Formats: sequence, C-alpha cells, structure tokens
Amino acid sequence: MKTAITELFGIQHPIIQGGMHYVGFAELASAVSNAGGLGIITGLTQKTPELLAKEIARCRDMTDKPFGVNLTFLPAFTATPYPEYIAAIKEGGVKVVETAGRSPEQYMPALKVAGIKVIHKCTSVRHSLKAEQIGCDAVSVDGFECGGHPGEDDIPNMILQPRAADELKIPFVTSGGMADARSLVAALSMGAAGMNMGTRFVATKEAPVHDNVKQALVKATEVDTVLIMRALRNTERVLKNKGVDELLEIEREKGASLKIDDIREQVAGVYPRVMVNGEMDAGAWSCGMVVGLINDIPTVKELIDRIMVEAERIIRQRLLRFLDGIEVPKPARAVASRRLP
Ligand SMILES: Cc1cc2nc3c(=O)[nH]c(=O)nc-3n(C[C@H](O)[C@H](O)[C@H](O)COP(=O)(O)O)c2cc1C
Repeated sequence: MKTAITELFGIQHPIIQGGMHYVGFAELASAVSNAGGLGIITGLTQKTPELLAKEIARCRDMTDKPFGVNLTFLPAFTATPYPEYIAAIKEGGVKVVETAGRSPEQYMPALKVAGIKVIHKCTSVRHSLKAEQIGCDAVSVDGFECGGHPGEDDIPNMILQPRAADELKIPFVTSGGMADARSLVAALSMGAAGMNMGTRFVATKEAPVHDNVKQALVKATEVDTVLIMRALRNTERVLKNKGVDELLEIEREKGASLKIDDIREQVAGVYPRVMVNGEMDAGAWSCGMVVGLINDIPTVKELIDRIMVEAERIIRQRLLRFLDGIEVPKPARAVASRRLP
C-alpha cells in the first residue's frame, strides 16, 4: 500500500508506532520497522542524551529499516536538555522525529538543518495547522479516544479526521483508537495517509514490558479507561486501577483547587513500577479506549501483516461489493472475541 506517509518515510506499510514512555525501547521500535512500519524510540525514557545515543545504536543493530525518535516537549519549567537530545538523534543518523506536547517551533531549524523529517502529534485542527505552518512534514492527529494526552477539546476521530483532511495540505495519520484493519481503512477513508498506534503495540510479544501489563490490556474493555488531571488542563487517559481510584478520590475532594503535588504519588515514578515490575495498581499510566479491541498478544509482524492483509480484503471485497450491489455477509471478527464476565 502506497500513501503519502509510506513515501515520506520510506516505509512499506502506513503504520506508525507512537512514542511511549517505558515501552518505546529499541526492541519494539526495531520490531515495528522490521515488519514494514515506522518504529519509534521514546527519547525522554532515556534519562540522558548519551543514553539515547546508545539506544539509537542498539536499535540500529536490530534493524536496517528507517526508525524514528519521539521527543515530547514538556512544560517549560522542566530543564530537559533538548538541544543535546537533538544532537544525539542527528549523530545517530535518525531521519524521523515524532514531536509531541508543546509546539516544536523552537527546535525546527535544528531538526531541518539535520535533514530530519518531523511528524508532530497534536490533538486539534488548529495545532495541526500551526505544525504545517512552522514546517513540519506531517502530523499525527490524535483524537479524544487516544491513550495519553488527548488535549482539552474532546473531539473524537470521526469528526477530527475529516476536519483535518479539509484543512491540511501536509499528510497526516490518524492516531487514537487504531487497532486493526478496520481502523486503517477508516483512517484512509477519512483522508489520512496512515495510522499511528500506541496501546495496541504494548500488547505484542516484542514490547519490552512486564507480562502483567499485556495481560491487563487483553482483559480490559473499552469502558476501563478514565480521564485524569482535567482540572489541571493536562488531561490524560489512563487504565483504571487502585492507584487511579485514589487519584480520582483526591481530584473529587480538591475540585478546581487541585494541584499537581496533591496527586504526585499517583503519577510520579509510576511507569517503571508498572512496565518493569508489573505493579498494576501503582497509579496512572496511559492507555487508550482501543484496549476494548485488544484480545491477543501477537508478534509485531503478525499484527502488522494481519492488518495489511485484512485491509486489502475490506477494500477489495467488502467495500467494492457495496458498489456492485452484492449483499455482503457480516465480516468475521479479526480474532476470537473475549468472553465478558
Ligand atoms: C503506555 C503509553 C505511553 C505513552 N507515552 C507517550 C510519550 O511519552 N510521549 C508521547 O508523545 N506519547 C505517548 N503516548 C501516546 C502514544 O504515542 C499515542 O499517541 C497514543 O497511544 C495513541 O492512542 P492509542 O493508544 O489509542 O493508540 C503513550 C501512550 C501509551 C499507551
């Protein structure tokens, strides 16, 4: 399948793995790239630019295909040495950066001079247009369904994607709620040139996280995520657990006067506890509503191959048959349904 995104990044399939804290290590990024998608190392999970350089070298040893690095721009008060991280990316020969969080405007000259293609992940049409205006090559348009930070507009992808298609000149991928071939075909039909997946890639064999995390994703349904930190205008969609219940209780008590310090215990330092130790009740970690569509733990290649084969079948058989007036039976589920309690 050829799209503006496969052409832009020199990849086989229009599927990107979004940056994920404590998940986007070389193992997952290389597996996605080897399977024909675009794998992404999460820059800031590496505590220093030197460590990021090592992770890039490790990934390079595992794949000869293109891969990228995610740079999440945190609020200004954090003293992250972004120029040094960008230097490590450049010196590592990485040609794609996924930016997220705040606008990458300040760092665009450094990225462009290094010949790096920038795909900015954002949650609104206006931020997408801003990304286009400052010279980003593509955007990843992240709907309200997404795992992580959906922004504050609460616009689901059925509206956000066609709106982005109407306004943008640069190519974009649909992000948030993407899990299978149906997602990919829907994304393409709404005007996107591919899709970005986060949560779905956590439940794969190569994702270097504790097995408890993968089992929790298989078990959870679409009603098992919740939004936190709304009062702080730093909304995050996370998987419900005991730590998150405590956090929600604090949020209820504090109301509009909530401060980040009130919930520090439930949000700080949680990722290594969950992803490395498998402590599933430790607190808040990002997870999308798409968890309701995750019923198995395939290899990354099995997942991507399945998506591409099934997408072709949907387009050639299911969709074309509507035009030909042939009645189509209900499509079989991609994988066996989970039994609900
Ligand atoms: C466990 C996890 C950690 C994430 N960490 C980051 C991150 O550090 N930086 C970032 O830009 N996005 C992060 N994301 C968001 C993803 O890159 C992606 O945009 C999102 O998961 C898409 O929605 P989906 O989960 O419905 O596929 C994270 C998502 C998950 C599930």
